[in-house]
Amino acid sequence: MSTPLTLSSPNHLPQNFVVPLKKRPEKEVPLGKDIPIIDIGQPEDFLVEQISKACRDFGLFQVVNHGVPENLMAEAMKVLKEFFALPAEEKAMFYDEDGKPNVLVPNYSQKAKLYTDGNKTSEGEFNFWRDSLAHGCHPLDEELVNSWPDKPATYKEVIGEYAVEVRNLAKKVLDIICRGLGLPLGYFIKELIQNQLMFSNYYPPCPEPSSALGVAGHYDSNIITLVQQDLYALQFLNKDGQWIGVEPISNAFIVILGLTFNVITNNVMEGAVHRVVTNQTHDRLSIVTFFTPANSTTIVPAKQLLSEKQPPLYRPYTYLEYLGNYLGDDSDYDAALKPYKI
Ligand code: OGA
Ligand code: NI
Repeated sequence: MSTPLTLSSPNHLPQNFVVPLKKRPEKEVPLGKDIPIIDIGQPEDFLVEQISKACRDFGLFQVVNHGVPENLMAEAMKVLKEFFALPAEEKAMFYDEDGKPNVLVPNYSQKAKLYTDGNKTSEGEFNFWRDSLAHGCHPLDEELVNSWPDKPATYKEVIGEYAVEVRNLAKKVLDIICRGLGLPLGYFIKELIQNQLMFSNYYPPCPEPSSALGVAGHYDSNIITLVQQDLYALQFLNKDGQWIGVEPISNAFIVILGLTFNVITNNVMEGAVHRVVTNQTHDRLSIVTFFTPANSTTIVPAKQLLSEKQPPLYRPYTYLEYLGNYLGDDSDYDAALKPYKI
């Protein structure tokens, strides 16, 4: 953990942000022209096939015509850019030495926090070249919303509305996935997305992009993530082990399946490994909404997907226990699941 970049504004790359050689980004990464872009305004019958295929082949795709109002997406970007542009003392109140919300306790606080995250690796620790403003978004109770920034003045109203719209979109995508898998509608919604966490990531221009990363390659730990971005920087690892750039499309959401999806679907569908690179000239803001199980939830393959021919590949575990592995073991992208593999 390190002092947030927006509080310290370094003009060179401090040593604790230098990425170990093995993890540094390659210079040339092609844009993935084949990453699906799905018009989710089509009748649902057309969507089941397209979304199922995108989930099986990529674990990551973009959705357009999705019903989240474009002006709300623009407003959300605007209030967040304004937040990160505030004078340091206005943001400092969201930073504390404990760093990010400590998810490794049963009833952890989802109150707003500002922090700079990092990775522990066998070659040493390093920080990511980004600041995150993180807070819960569901349910929108008073205590939670009170912890959100008061400045900009429209933050609570805009982000509150945004959180509801993005949740509706996630529910829609998840039920279409249910139809494709033959799971009852609501399978994910009822018990697997109790928490909704919004991470607004601010990536300042980076003095040395070849030695830094906005975030290192990872699976999201959760079920499903929706990302709004306005500038290129997100890359994903394809099945051939090649990094591929995700094209920025204005007003689209990027849908990313998390590692927990592998378990629920018994590997019928799998999450996507992704990372964020930096650049020297532009700052970038992404709004990342994670839909996650509650810490106490038991994670187990859906019984509808099991048979004699498809025996369970994972034994049951609680989400809290798994999070401990997720944050502690980075020997492999999916190392967090190692203790549960049958
Ligand atoms: C993340 C992530 C992508 C982005 O925060 O897990 O993958 O574009 N972010 O910020
Ligand atoms: Ni991610």
